[in-house]
Amino acid sequence: MTRKKLEELVDGLGKKKDGLFLGGGSAAIEKQHQGGKMTARERIHVLLDRDSFEEVDLFVEHRSDRFGLGEKSLPADGVVTGFGTVDGRPIFVYSQDFTVIGGSLGEMHAKKICKIMDMALKVGAPVVGINDSGGARIQEGIDSLSGYGQIFFRNTRSSGIIPQIAVIAGPCAGGAVYSPALMDFIFMIEGISKMFVTGPQVVKAATGEEVSAEELGGAHTHATKSGVAHFVLKNEDACFGEVKKLLAYLPSNNAEEPPYRESSDPVARSNPSFLEVVSTNPNKPYDIKKIIVDLVDRDSFLEIQRDYARNMVIGLARMGGNTVGIVANQPYHLAGCLDIDTGDKASRFIRFCDAFNIPLVTLVDVPGFLPGTNQEFGGIIRHGAKILYAYSEATVPKITVIIRKAYGGAYLAMCCRDLGADLVLAWPTAEIAVMGAEGAVNIIFRREIDASLDTNVEREKLLAQYRQEFYNPYEAAKRGYVDQVIDPRETRFKVARALEIFWSKRENGRGKKHGIIPV
Ligand code: HXC
Repeated sequence: MTRKKLEELVDGLGKKKDGLFLGGGSAAIEKQHQGGKMTARERIHVLLDRDSFEEVDLFVEHRSDRFGLGEKSLPADGVVTGFGTVDGRPIFVYSQDFTVIGGSLGEMHAKKICKIMDMALKVGAPVVGINDSGGARIQEGIDSLSGYGQIFFRNTRSSGIIPQIAVIAGPCAGGAVYSPALMDFIFMIEGISKMFVTGPQVVKAATGEEVSAEELGGAHTHATKSGVAHFVLKNEDACFGEVKKLLAYLPSNNAEEPPYRESSDPVARSNPSFLEVVSTNPNKPYDIKKIIVDLVDRDSFLEIQRDYARNMVIGLARMGGNTVGIVANQPYHLAGCLDIDTGDKASRFIRFCDAFNIPLVTLVDVPGFLPGTNQEFGGIIRHGAKILYAYSEATVPKITVIIRKAYGGAYLAMCCRDLGADLVLAWPTAEIAVMGAEGAVNIIFRREIDASLDTNVEREKLLAQYRQEFYNPYEAAKRGYVDQVIDPRETRFKVARALEIFWSKRENGRGKKHGIIPV
């Protein structure tokens, strides 16, 4: 072949690529931009390290001839797939191109996504899926549905082996929502993301309810009501920035340790503010986040599901440069009680940390499970059981700090020694009891109170006696349920040291197939 012919072929390749890079064309791209959205390729470039993206399957085409599709060319079949790096670490990515037939998912579109997922699993690197799609490509019928099935299968089989992150950067409707739901974290963008199983029109037809798409499945709804969204950001730039931030805490796969990040914050730094934050008045709430941010390495706390089940705070952070998972009761909301939603929030996070070798630090100030018919009828028994299950199952290092209240079943649920905590630390303010004084005294001293001349005086006397006996950490420490009672100001140092020592902990399971988490 002559040099000239070769050059023609290479030019031809360039032209073909340039054509395909335009996706649905300039007008469709313009429309995408006008909606405050980036294109599929722009999103990848914002997410990945500069010039690191290697696209695969650019030339894939659909094979359908139904409903006029035969005459249509769909560049890259509506999804951009490939690999690259984020902060120098490998990552696999797919990004649906709404400018091409609404990013709808047909047979080949799905095959491209599956190929990327298979590569990621083989390599042991995270997958980020950027969703912007009208759902199953209607013209391709059952092949589209099969495509989703193949993705769900891979989502599940990859779960706990590689981190999977879903960005909802447009509509995500019907069964399509279940791929993100099977992944580990869902990012949504205000005003842009929509997720629902059935859209507003179907809802109206089925139930008569009138609801806007935003109210039904927008970012705010999923951040506050359903708990489906883990992170909500104001715009796409901020969203991809946050994805990168999250990835920096995570190992690439379950056989690796999370990445270490040099910290200038000494682990021996004392926490004088802790004496100011917590009140010994058990009815006075305080913000547990003030404790968390001062406990962990400076500016390292990344809160997850911030606006959902706010009576519990979860998030990733670093201690001495290493990733840890924080699970904490929040006395500011519902007095920090455990309820149905915290059951989901905490157990999912604990299992994620356990799967990816992230030690757990649990901060306890919990008066109990939330009482009421709503909770009982809603299944607080099985939802609460998820926390017990997740902590008991977790084999990563587990360090527990009891700050104030630790009552009853909720004490047990918040990673007590009996659920396998490796080290339980308690502040002198800790109150470890079967229940709070009021409830306890009314039950065990009912006769004495009724028989007394002045019931109020008698009750107060008995309350004081109960508090004296149980509102302290020493009863538990006497029996070894608490390993150390510590000066609150030493908490950071004590937790960091415990993590350092228990880092090398190894526990092997009994080789069962898997347990049955109470869902
Ligand atoms: C084929 C589709 C499509 C789909 C959109 N398009 N969704 N083509 N299959 N599912 C095409 C449109 O025909 C249009 O093509 C282009 O994409 C852009 O769509 P518009 O409607 O013009 O855009 P917009 O007004 O922004 O509305 C976006 C939308 C709407 C809200 C997503 O398109 C929509 O409601 N689509 C259908 C959503 C849906 O019901 N999907 C099926 C869900 S069931 P042209 O050629 O005009 O540019 C499902 C089952 C999955 O997904 C089950 C998995 C187990």
